[in-house]
Amino acid sequence: MSFRTIEWRDNSVIMIDQTLLPSEEVYNTYTDFKSVAEAIRGMVIRGAPAIGVAAAMGIALGAREIIADTHESFFRQLENVCETMARTRPTAVNLFWAIERMKRVADANRAKGLDRIRDILKKEAIRVEEEDLTICRNIGKWGATLIPEGAAILTHCNAGGLATAGYGTALGVIRAAHEMGKKIQVFADETRPWLQGARLTAWELLKEGIPTTLISDNMAGFFMNRGEISCCVVGADRIAANGDTANKIGTYSVAVLAKENNIPFYVAAPVSTLDLSLSDGSQIPIEERPASEVTHIKGVPIAPEGIKVRNPAFDVTPASYISAIITENGIVSGDYRKGLRKVAAP
Ligand code: MRU
Repeated sequence: MSFRTIEWRDNSVIMIDQTLLPSEEVYNTYTDFKSVAEAIRGMVIRGAPAIGVAAAMGIALGAREIIADTHESFFRQLENVCETMARTRPTAVNLFWAIERMKRVADANRAKGLDRIRDILKKEAIRVEEEDLTICRNIGKWGATLIPEGAAILTHCNAGGLATAGYGTALGVIRAAHEMGKKIQVFADETRPWLQGARLTAWELLKEGIPTTLISDNMAGFFMNRGEISCCVVGADRIAANGDTANKIGTYSVAVLAKENNIPFYVAAPVSTLDLSLSDGSQIPIEERPASEVTHIKGVPIAPEGIKVRNPAFDVTPASYISAIITENGIVSGDYRKGLRKVAAP
């Protein structure tokens, strides 16, 4: 990859600033957990697996910042750090998965000295990042088997290297198919209101030399209806036990259009995106973001002042619209309740 989404370097966290892409490629340095939490909330880093990595690294930074004489005081303050991370964004379950993982590791090492615990947390956060790369490559390998030679693949939002530790889930499938030599091309939805498709997916795929066409969201049906799309591949922020999938707002519309046009609709996500505690998608919390994301583009108003706005950041695609869910442990289709349980604990 020609960029790094996030990395731990010299006891600080470095992130590419996704609010500035594609016009500027700026790397920010974070040395305290509160600014990492702010970076997640402000979308400097975004995408379910990437915010999981950021939360883990933020907790590792927080552990270093804690001044404590006793273990009791250290663990009380660590809980506060974790709560700050948990309050950043509600929908992507990878964030909560990473926080729980860091807490579990801290707890399992309670008997050790505080500096040792701090060091263990740092190593665990780096491991979360490294594992994500391997996981995405495996998602790519499985997913590429579903992509026909010469396919035109429609994707929504950015489920790429920028949304993960660096290879991507949906774009991981696309990258793997491309690496295998399949002559594929991508249609990237621009993804209003935040424009993850136009700003990030287009930037990543162009850098990679994968043939890509940018379309506005309302064009997807036009191209599907004309037979120009072979399949859709998207990422996920949370997948319920029955396969219902929360992903970027607009994903549901793409899935409905795909079904109407008999086009396979695939979801690619790591097992850490599964939330088997939720029986179906109606229980997934949906983040509402500021109205200014809808009324303004790059600070320029595009709507009259005072207009009422709604801005849900995610929607839920019912499992019945999903042809298959691609994970690092295999592909699930049909009986999602059974299949997802199996890939979650292989
Ligand atoms: O609001 P965002 O940009 O964090 O939303 C991101 C998405 O919806 C992605 O498709 C999802 O997190 C999968 S990322 C591999």
